[in-house]
Amino acid sequence: MNPQKFQAVRGMNDVVPEQSLSWAKLEHLLQHWLKQHGYQEIRTPILEPTGLFVRSIGEVTDIVEKEMYTFVDSLNGESLTLRPEATASCVRLAIQHNLLYNGPRRLWYMGPMFRHERPQKGRYRQFHQCGAEALGFAGPDVDAEMILMTARLWERLGLKEVRLELNTIGDLASRRRHRTRLVTYFQARQEQLDEDSRRRLHTNPLRILDSKNPELAPLIEAAPRLMDDLDEVSLRHFDALKTLLDRAGLTFHLNHRLVRGLDYYNATVFEWTTTLLGAQSTICGGGRYDTLIQQLGGKPAPACGFAMGMERLLALMEASQNAPAETGGPDVYVIHQGEQAAPEAFLHADVLRQSGLDVVLHCGGGQFKQQFKRADACHAAWALIVGEDEVRQHRVTLKPLRGQGDQCNVTLQQAITLIRQGQTPTAI
Ligand code: HAM
Repeated sequence: MNPQKFQAVRGMNDVVPEQSLSWAKLEHLLQHWLKQHGYQEIRTPILEPTGLFVRSIGEVTDIVEKEMYTFVDSLNGESLTLRPEATASCVRLAIQHNLLYNGPRRLWYMGPMFRHERPQKGRYRQFHQCGAEALGFAGPDVDAEMILMTARLWERLGLKEVRLELNTIGDLASRRRHRTRLVTYFQARQEQLDEDSRRRLHTNPLRILDSKNPELAPLIEAAPRLMDDLDEVSLRHFDALKTLLDRAGLTFHLNHRLVRGLDYYNATVFEWTTTLLGAQSTICGGGRYDTLIQQLGGKPAPACGFAMGMERLLALMEASQNAPAETGGPDVYVIHQGEQAAPEAFLHADVLRQSGLDVVLHCGGGQFKQQFKRADACHAAWALIVGEDEVRQHRVTLKPLRGQGDQCNVTLQQAITLIRQGQTPTAI
């Protein structure tokens, strides 16, 4: 009987060595970019109490209603959820560790999130986000800084066809006013609504505007506009933000229909989208959430943040023909043949590594020719060869595998110097 072969869970991806280099490069670049903007890293558990997400993201949202991986801990009956996003966790952490006692904080995180969505290209059940949260800042300067820093990141990553959509959704009172007008409007047209929207009419009518059902598009298009119900403070905040972005020379598109899929937002909301990735076109989304910290039990403090989908970023880098170059091979591949040569090569590899070089030692025997093939396949820059002659002479043979240059017979120390200088060994 054949043993059962297992597959990764649907919608959850492995990263194989051929892809991990691109991931590592992106992660490294993001870390540097965040530090440059004064953000400090946090790491939160992947599991959180379910209530944290229900309270912050909102009970009547797609995420909470149908996308969370929730289970009951059989030991104590506690309901736990795999984090679908990390803003709630970040705020929980800041409150729990009293991070805001001494003023505002800029924080960032990176890692896997989980949403039980229908998988398709660019939409996964386990995906990765890199997010930044500015806690304790009232803006609009920090809103503008966050938007500008993402714009600069896209330039650094060589992304093409990105577009900034911007909106303000006002404060709670203005959204309540708007809600009443929306309910009246949709109630008069109930027969045109789909099942989801009909249910949301009384629980969360704002979410109807977020519907992805194309049949509802004309109805949504003609619905009362939130813009007409907005409060003065939010409008002034939005004007100041737009002025700052204009001054920085940033192009943005006002999208009065942009409401975002999570309930904690107020005032500024934004999304970066692209035409190069098909249906899953949003690479980054964020906005202000000035009441969330208080809502989760902290001292009232305003906040703003964003998160980007790393799978989508990598796909867009590729679509923009700017995938990180596939290098990453070791400096040296150590080849050897003969009974005496094997232990000598083993020790040479150790010395080479101690001198700071990346070294792969050939293991498992084989002819020289096969060993050279392996050296090529792993993209090594140099082959260092140890045969019986080399052992006798206390020397090694060094051969460049990329570019020009002849092989040469040198001492191990000379080999290290040549490799470091990146010189062809014809010089010796
Ligand atoms: P979000 O819009 O739900 O916002 O997600 C942010 C980004 O994560 C999306 O723009 C997208 O690139 C990526 N993403 C979301 N779901 C998936 C998926 N199923 N597969 C692949 N990528 C996905 C948030 O999560 C907020 N916490 C952002 C935020 C931070 N707001 C304030 N601070």
